[in-house]
Amino acid sequence: MVQRTVVVTGGGTGIGRASAEWFARAGDRVIIAGRREPVLREAASAIGARAVVADLSGPSGARALAEAIDGEIGVLVNNAGGNPDLQGTPAPAGLDGVRAAWQRNFDANVLTAVLATEALRERIADHGRVITIGSIAARSGAASYGAAKAAVEAWNLSLGGELGPRGITCNVVSPGLIIDTEFFNGQLSDERKEMLISQTATNRAGVPDDVAETIGWLASPGAGHITKQVIHVDGGAYAGH
Ligand SMILES: NC(=O)c1ccc[n+]([C@@H]2O[C@H](COP(=O)([O-])OP(=O)(O)OC[C@H]3O[C@@H](n4cnc5c(N)ncnc54)[C@H](OP(=O)(O)O)[C@@H]3O)[C@@H](O)[C@H]2O)c1
Repeated sequence: MVQRTVVVTGGGTGIGRASAEWFARAGDRVIIAGRREPVLREAASAIGARAVVADLSGPSGARALAEAIDGEIGVLVNNAGGNPDLQGTPAPAGLDGVRAAWQRNFDANVLTAVLATEALRERIADHGRVITIGSIAARSGAASYGAAKAAVEAWNLSLGGELGPRGITCNVVSPGLIIDTEFFNGQLSDERKEMLISQTATNRAGVPDDVAETIGWLASPGAGHITKQVIHVDGGAYAGH
């Protein structure tokens, strides 16, 4: 197998870390990016990856990521994101609070993916892969977080059209409930967890490796004619298309 350079944003924890491990195990050169240096360095050392500390919601972080990488990129996994409403910093009251909540979800989920991709766009290898993590929330609600993930799906459609002539595929992987991540910040009650599990056909919560395996498959040569798609990894909790 040809060794590729694989960039996983948000690769220090959860789904991103499992994906980074998947590619490292497959023999690829892996670069993980995130904001918290100690978290990233610990993960990088455990995985055998390289860490780039960067806040990807702004242009300077995206530029720093691009400057830290040499050569062509075979796979870009836009995984950084989450729901800042769960992070415990209350938004201001009234319309200012509404605006702040929407802005920070857009920053965390849309701009991280768009800016990282734009910063690396010319360096993505022909026949490369751009895989962006969406969410079941894009189809099921969750206010500003769901709207931001829906925006990621729309953006992916245009990106797939732009990069398709170079043989680059662009897909969204949309998880349902995935435990063993920092996503819920300790705010997932047992009742809510059971309710979310009851919506699956598999009668279980997802784990990061469920998503990593799907990302790995989308990045494989055999998936070269799959693009502009949304692949749900949610045990059937969302059954629409
Ligand atoms: N867990 C679920 O149930 C679930 C369901 C659907 C979708 N998702 C999506 O899956 C993706 C991965 O989340 P996860 O569940 O694995 O949770 P997680 O453990 O919190 O991982 C999110 C990662 O993104 C990084 N990150 C966040 N904002 C960033 C920024 N501005 N710049 C750079 N890195 C940033 C975080 O690191 P730093 O804080 O150090 O930057 C963290 O490592 C997210 O896009 C999330 O929305 C998760």
